[in-house]
Amino acid sequence: MQEKPVATTGEAWSGRFNEPVDELVKRFTASVTFDRRLALFDIQGSLAHAQMLSEVGLLSASDLDSIRLGMERIRDEVVSGAFNWSVDLEDVHMNIERRLTEFAGDAGKRLHTARSRNDQVATDVRLFLRDAIDRILQQIRQFQRALLNLAETHAATVMPGFTHLQVAQPVTFGHHLMAYYEMLQRDAARLSDCRRRVNRLPLGSAALAGTSYPIRRERVAELLGFDGVCENSLDAVSDRDFALEFSAAGALIMTHLSRFSEELILWMSPRYGFIVLADRFCTGSSIMPQKKNPDVPELVRGKTGRVFGHLMGLFTLMKGQPLAYNKDNQEDKEPLFDTVDTVLDCLTLYTDMMGGLTVNAEKMRAAAREGFATATDLADYLVKKGLPFRDAHEAVARAVRHAESRGCDLSDLPLAELQAFSALIEADIFAVLTLEGSLNSRAHIGGTAPEAVRAAIQRARAALS
Ligand code: ARG
Repeated sequence: MQEKPVATTGEAWSGRFNEPVDELVKRFTASVTFDRRLALFDIQGSLAHAQMLSEVGLLSASDLDSIRLGMERIRDEVVSGAFNWSVDLEDVHMNIERRLTEFAGDAGKRLHTARSRNDQVATDVRLFLRDAIDRILQQIRQFQRALLNLAETHAATVMPGFTHLQVAQPVTFGHHLMAYYEMLQRDAARLSDCRRRVNRLPLGSAALAGTSYPIRRERVAELLGFDGVCENSLDAVSDRDFALEFSAAGALIMTHLSRFSEELILWMSPRYGFIVLADRFCTGSSIMPQKKNPDVPELVRGKTGRVFGHLMGLFTLMKGQPLAYNKDNQEDKEPLFDTVDTVLDCLTLYTDMMGGLTVNAEKMRAAAREGFATATDLADYLVKKGLPFRDAHEAVARAVRHAESRGCDLSDLPLAELQAFSALIEADIFAVLTLEGSLNSRAHIGGTAPEAVRAAIQRARAALS
């Protein structure tokens, strides 16, 4: 004899079940504790869906009105914090639908016509991510503006450029900062590109196969500001490529901020002494009274790890899934939310930090003078006078060794001593061996000459406006 279904806690799908869900299973499968963050996007998607349903005659005008009024009240409750989220209702979608039904009666129950939570959640995540991308893009622009201001002030401030963390050649601090501007330009371009693939509508795909109702997907796309619809229903409900792409773009942003952090931390160490970070970005030590630690850059560097982890988590989440929707996909949200929050916070902190950075130009200059930073300029000088580059390299290497033994810079050696390494050296060498001479000679596009840096800043300002 067929067992009669027992009364359960009233889940939307409980009609065919014979026993209530185990408490741990309920907690384990529920997502409302985190996906409630999607509430306003869920409402936005539902309103567009309802409007389309009414336009094609699947929902009466009065039902549409009731849904709109009900959703208005729900939105107020969500925003004010009064909404009563229930784990029994599993996720954000069913919580909102149940509340709507309390407000709007049968109209609320009709809203789910021609859709499924599978296309609904995919739509919500895309709406969330589109909004997040727009906010991150704005913050990148702000950070770039702050970088440009600082770079302008220091377009001619000389510092050592490093390779292998050894003094290599003089550069300007402005030039160094503009390197980060360029990284952020690529970050912004990647996000804008990713946004185009985020901005497509899954709704209408229903559970996986589409729907037999005469829906108008393009209309819903238009109402929600999407550029178009996802073209295959199976792909639409199961695709999370857009989330992965976004996470990869986020991981690259964090990579850039982490590299910058590493530099700020080094530069702030008394061994370098190039910069001082404003107190508001640092903390002291509870035991060593003299300490001022660059906590913010250190934490940005540290948080880069979790963003990388989220990317790997999402890849792993997707790699084994057969088409179409699987419950696994519920796990896409927490890493995505955390990536958005972390990236936004770090960019915001970095924007502020640019205004709280004091440069010790004297220390930078002294460090550039200490490391034979203009040795390459001497070699280039000899080449320009006809010496093959390899021979010039050799002559300069010997001159450096000599200066080292004398405990001075190349530019401190008397002309007669320099001439011992090559007869081609004349009095005009001293203009070449100075830090400014070295900088000014690199005036091509992309070079570190102050005039080239100022030109780069000007181009950047034009690109940002
Ligand atoms: N909470 C679910 C998620 O985030 C919504 C979709 C559930 N669909 C389903 N058939 N169980 O993915």
